[in-house]
Order: sequence, then C-alpha cells, then structure tokens
Amino acid sequence: MRTSAVTLSSQHLPRNSRLPAEITERGVASALPTRLRPADLLRLTDEGAEDVLAGRYDHLLPEGGLWPTEERWATRLLADDEVDIWLISWVPDRSTELHDHAGSLGALTVLSGALSEFRWNGKELRGRTLSAGDQAAFPLGWVHDVVRAPGPIAGPADPTLSVHAYSPPLSAMSYYEVTGHGTLRRSRTVLTDQPEGPVK
Ligand SMILES: [Fe+2]
Repeated sequence: MRTSAVTLSSQHLPRNSRLPAEITERGVASALPTRLRPADLLRLTDEGAEDVLAGRYDHLLPEGGLWPTEERWATRLLADDEVDIWLISWVPDRSTELHDHAGSLGALTVLSGALSEFRWNGKELRGRTLSAGDQAAFPLGWVHDVVRAPGPIAGPADPTLSVHAYSPPLSAMSYYEVTGHGTLRRSRTVLTDQPEGPVK
C-alpha cells in the first residue's frame, strides 16, 4: 500500500514523547479510502473512452447505435474491489442535481458532445463546459451538478458520452441545495452504485 511522503521523526518530539510504532516505522499511512489517486482515475477513464471509441464495448451499447433520447443511460464497463468504470449517455434537461460522491474519488473523460458542470466552490456555483476530449477529477468533497450542454441534437445517433471512474466503487451520494444566504444545505443521502445518480 502506498504511504504518505510525510514521515515523522521522534527527534522533533518533546523528550519522553513516543510515536506509535506503525508511524515511526512505516511512515504515515494514507487517510484516503483507496490507493488510487485522481491521476489514476483520469487515466482509467481515458483508456475506457479509447476502448469505447475503438469498439471494444460495442456488445454493451444500445442496439443499432440508437442512444436513448429521453433519459440518462449508463452501462458498467469494469468493476472490481477498487474501482467502478461506467459509460454514461446524457440527454437534455436531465441534470444529476447538486451532489457529492460520498467517500469515493471520481474522474471523467468526455468522448463526444459536451457537458455543463456547475461546481460549488465554497461561495457559489461556478459553471464550465467539458467538451469531447476534456477530463475532470473529483476529489473527496467535490459537489457538482452535471447536465448535457445545450445545443442542437441531430437525433439518437448524436449522443453526449462520458466515461466515469469511482474509487472505492460508488456506494452513496448526498444531495444539496444552495440556501438563500450562500451556503449549502444537505437535503438527503442515498445509498446507490448508479453513476451520477439514477440512470435507465
Ligand atoms: Fe458527480
């Protein structure tokens, strides 16, 4: 298991102080619940996107390449004890609502189309557009709302697609409201393994 680069030395402690053996001997263990880093998740979503574009997951995709146009849709590309990887297709006006990913780190790569993300920066929601080829990582505590970016749609063969990774695998999400005095209020927490919330 990877350990923190920070190590403590007993010579900096007051005399008679003692550090637990597991700290002095092995360094300070990571406090994160996964050994994967955001950079690892970004790489996994990039590889997943490449595999989707190369046709390696065609057997998991909608029949005839006709993507759902009314509801978000997702399929799990990979799952193990450390990470869950999903392909999501996005439709207009079906936002995720403002949420976090509980105890999971996350990342995404956009394959086609574009997403609008509104992220809570501690004071307000800050919007950005993530277009095909763009990536984003979600450290613990990241609160955002995601929706297909506005724009013309050529039909069910014109999807907005993104690959997402969560580590540890997503098991819960909390939802939030922005209050009238510029703070977040957590409105509910749900147990779920569905990427970015319920999908069809
Ligand atoms: Fe999210």
